Amino acid sequence: MREEFILDPQGDDDPDIGLRPARLDEFVGQDKLKERLRISIEAAAERGHALDHVLFSGPPGLGKTTLAAIVANEMGTAFRVTTGPALERPGDLAAILSNLDEGDVFFIDEIHRLPRAVEEVLYSAMEDFQLDIMVGKGPTAQSIRLDLQPFTLVGATTRKGKVTAPLRDRFGLEDKLDYYSHGELASIVTRAARILEIEIQPQAAAMIARRSRGTPRIGNRLLRRVRDFAVARADGTITEEVAADALVVYEVDEMGLDKVDREILGAIVSKFGGGPVGLHTLAIAVGEEPETVEDAYEPFLLQMGLLHRTPRGRVATDLTYRHLGMEPEGGDQARLL
Ligand SMILES: Nc1ncnc2c1ncn2[C@@H]1O[C@H](COP(=O)(O)OP(=O)(O)OP(=O)(O)O)[C@@H](O)[C@H]1O
Ligand SMILES: [Mg+2]
Repeated sequence: MREEFILDPQGDDDPDIGLRPARLDEFVGQDKLKERLRISIEAAAERGHALDHVLFSGPPGLGKTTLAAIVANEMGTAFRVTTGPALERPGDLAAILSNLDEGDVFFIDEIHRLPRAVEEVLYSAMEDFQLDIMVGKGPTAQSIRLDLQPFTLVGATTRKGKVTAPLRDRFGLEDKLDYYSHGELASIVTRAARILEIEIQPQAAAMIARRSRGTPRIGNRLLRRVRDFAVARADGTITEEVAADALVVYEVDEMGLDKVDREILGAIVSKFGGGPVGLHTLAIAVGEEPETVEDAYEPFLLQMGLLHRTPRGRVATDLTYRHLGMEPEGGDQARLL
């Protein structure tokens, strides 16, 4: 079994551990979600029970893993981390669950990718804190039942639609993370700069925030790249001018779109006449995995109105053309029909 102890299975370009808020009060934004979580945490602590199982969903880099760790910190319990695909067999799950203490937080990232057989064993573990597993093979195989300590499962997924209904039903709390506002991102970037001891002017933090695609991970990453530029090409301080010059070098445009975003939009427009084009064809055209295009790139492009999804495929909008500096052809309506 491969068990992940690192907090970022995706592997940011820098260990982000120091930037992760450890408590709910330090976690910027997602106010309604935080309030709901705080209520449940306080109630669980008051009753001396483990917190109900929690499912977080939303695009990459919005703070699902961070929140899972915060839940454990706030509950004052241990935090165990794994991912759906790492739990290959029911025995892998049993090995972790049987070692949990009361109230511990067990985090499964990418929970929509749990193998079926493992997921089925998880049902009774979540519901009754019991584990039914088969021991041995063939005619001597027998089922044994293990009692578990009450624990809290925190699941995270970028694809809520792929979490099966029986699994979803077993979560007492379910919450979706939304993209962050520019103001919230400016606070996140400013906080990260303080931790990393980077000098940054407020207008520069605001500029990085506007170009972070609503995503804290991207904000933190841009901050580091802009810091590099400030150190190598200026006197180390990030002014608005330094930030603007750096963002040109890193090919991040005014809306925060990066090279791949623009390649996706460019392909729909130039190679497929504005669409509709199927996800797989589009992904091949830009040299990315379909899942990466769908999970990591599309949600923000959709949100910004730079892309439409139709039953027949992805379609460019008037805004897509304008953003690429082109005249819209035929108008939205023609492409959507
Ligand atoms: N609300 C926030 N305030 C401050 N920093 C944040 C916040 N949310 C996320 N971050 C920062 O952004 C980074 C990405 O967050 P995190 O790894 O929790 O995202 P995720 O939703 O788990 O992403 P993925 O789906 O890719 O696993 C973290 O390193 C953390 O430092
Ligand atoms: Mg994560």
